[in-house]
Amino acid sequence: MQTFRKVIFSGIQPTGNIHLGNYFGAIKRWKELQDADHDCIFSIVDLHSITLPQDPKALNEGILKMTATLLACGIDPQKSVIFQQSNVKEHAEFSWILKCITTMARLGRLAQFKEKSEKLKEVPLGLYVYPVLQAADILLYKTTHVPVGEDQSQHIQLAQDLQRVFNHTYKSEVLVRPTALISDGPASRVKSLRDPAKKMSKSDPDPRSYIGLTDPPELITNKFRKALTDFTSEVSFDPENRASVSNLILIESLSTGLTPDEICERNSNIDTGKYKLVVADSVIEMLRPIQNNYHRLINEKGYLISVLRDGAERARTVANKTLSEVKKVVGLSLEY
Ligand code: AMP
Ligand code: TRP
Repeated sequence: MQTFRKVIFSGIQPTGNIHLGNYFGAIKRWKELQDADHDCIFSIVDLHSITLPQDPKALNEGILKMTATLLACGIDPQKSVIFQQSNVKEHAEFSWILKCITTMARLGRLAQFKEKSEKLKEVPLGLYVYPVLQAADILLYKTTHVPVGEDQSQHIQLAQDLQRVFNHTYKSEVLVRPTALISDGPASRVKSLRDPAKKMSKSDPDPRSYIGLTDPPELITNKFRKALTDFTSEVSFDPENRASVSNLILIESLSTGLTPDEICERNSNIDTGKYKLVVADSVIEMLRPIQNNYHRLINEKGYLISVLRDGAERARTVANKTLSEVKKVVGLSLEY
């Protein structure tokens, strides 16, 4: 039987502290898809990062750190393509062509744009057109599936719309419709440890709100110790009425594979204060091999750069082919 081979594309920004939400919502699933033998392309989307001001040195280090993190989490450059977005110029060029078929009204309605621009006095154009660059990332590789957390679903819808509009406008079948892969469980939306109404976020100014993948064990324990709970001391799972405690249970569940019911049963004899340390221990255990890999890799700068260079070369071959097809149907390429 012939099985349908998926083309997987996803991206992650090399800025901020990569946390458990990114791991469970994105990277862990990337590895599962890679190991299921699909064509996987993962991009460190540095051009997306500069839509907000960045310190150049920190951005540069962030790219290497993110590369080391992805490899430490099991993304294997022999199986997957890992590359830096700005190394493949086709992304910027193709995004221009897509911008010409995108309306301002469509972009202004997107939740992430509204949320990010609300906090700014002057809104950079890059922040506004950010989702079009994301659509270019996806469509350049004729991607069939995009594994992301729930917060990205509107952006994938835009990529779907632009695929349809492009093919329709140019009466072509060049672009392929991408589908979002968003897990239905808690992995798609891990909550902040300080406010369960918010998602765990890289840009949260309070570092106690997230667990960084490279946080040392003592820091992890401390952050869980300070995690918000409520006035009931029992460990029970009730996401509606006990959001903060339930988030801790879900984090343990994602880290260990135990179900929330099993976790509540095992911890029926302790209070939530002590339970926080149980969660901390299971997260520390889960992260231990990843952290060991990370600390080894981060010192191998030459190797990390060579992984990115090879990845860019492989990505460029595909991106260039699609862009040539695109330019042809748009009427931009002359036969010299
Ligand atoms: P970002 O942190 O915005 O660069 O997101 C990188 C990836 O992690 C995207 O696929 C997000 O959807 C995913 N992600 C970010 N925060 C969370 C979270 N709290 N829970 C689950 N997935 C997340
Ligand atoms: N915007 C995504 C985020 O902030 C990152 C991203 C850029 C992306 N290009 C992508 C994700 C393409 C999936 C596919 O998380």
